[in-house]
Amino acid sequence: MNVILIGAPGSGKGTQSRYLIDKHQFLQLSTGDLLRGAIAEKTEIGLMAQGFMDQGKLVPDEVMVKLVESFIDKNKGKSVIFDGFPRTVAQAESLEQMLKKSANQIDKVIFFSIDSELLVSRLTGRRTCAKCGEIYHIETKPSSKGEVCEKCGGELRQRPDDKKEVIGERLAQFEKNTGPTINFYRGKNMLEKVDCAKDPEIVLEEIEEILGLA
Ligand code: AP5
Repeated sequence: MNVILIGAPGSGKGTQSRYLIDKHQFLQLSTGDLLRGAIAEKTEIGLMAQGFMDQGKLVPDEVMVKLVESFIDKNKGKSVIFDGFPRTVAQAESLEQMLKKSANQIDKVIFFSIDSELLVSRLTGRRTCAKCGEIYHIETKPSSKGEVCEKCGGELRQRPDDKKEVIGERLAQFEKNTGPTINFYRGKNMLEKVDCAKDPEIVLEEIEEILGLA
């Protein structure tokens, strides 16, 4: 089963992806994590993407499509959660074509619905483990070990694009590019909505219900 999680920055896609991987053997494709990995390794793609990400802008479609194509080629036949891809209509159309090549398809598109006022505090308070990627929040989900990850002891860091100055642009990009992508799937009757202002455990239950995993 292939599932897209689509929603604004901070709506909880990464948090829910991790729950679904732990409980249901999905493979996650987080394009944000792939790009951050490329930046850390200083690859050509990483060096190019950093400028866009630091400003809260989207990385060009051609680059993203190539990255995702190579992931799909390497993981044929596996159940994938697409977290953060597609976020433009061009990316959605390309994904359809890529999957068609191996007689595959997207089964569900889950839209993370939330009022934008809640997002800024979620993003500014987020801390992520540099080692295992576990996601925390300084107020709502602090690590019991302070500045280090309670799962692996890695250092907790704030993402450079989680600064207030950048968040506004990320939200604007979401409205401009991902809004039409959501409508693209709505038009195909593929969209399922979850209220992600609720507690993470309740959001997970709603997703499991939609995916027939409850
Ligand atoms: P990416 O890394 O994908 O970021 P994003 O989509 O902006 O989403 P986030 O990771 O910020 O939020 P999330 O929804 O995963 O929330 P989380 O679970 O962490 O992309 C970064 C950049 O890469 C983009 O700006 C762009 O430049 C580039 N990029 C990536 N993909 C691209 C693409 N396809 N095309 C072009 N460019 C691309 O939760 C956030 C916080 O809220 C956490 O602290 C968490 O603990 C808390 N929280 C989560 N759920 C709840 C809840 N239910 N209740 C209370 N708190 C909650």
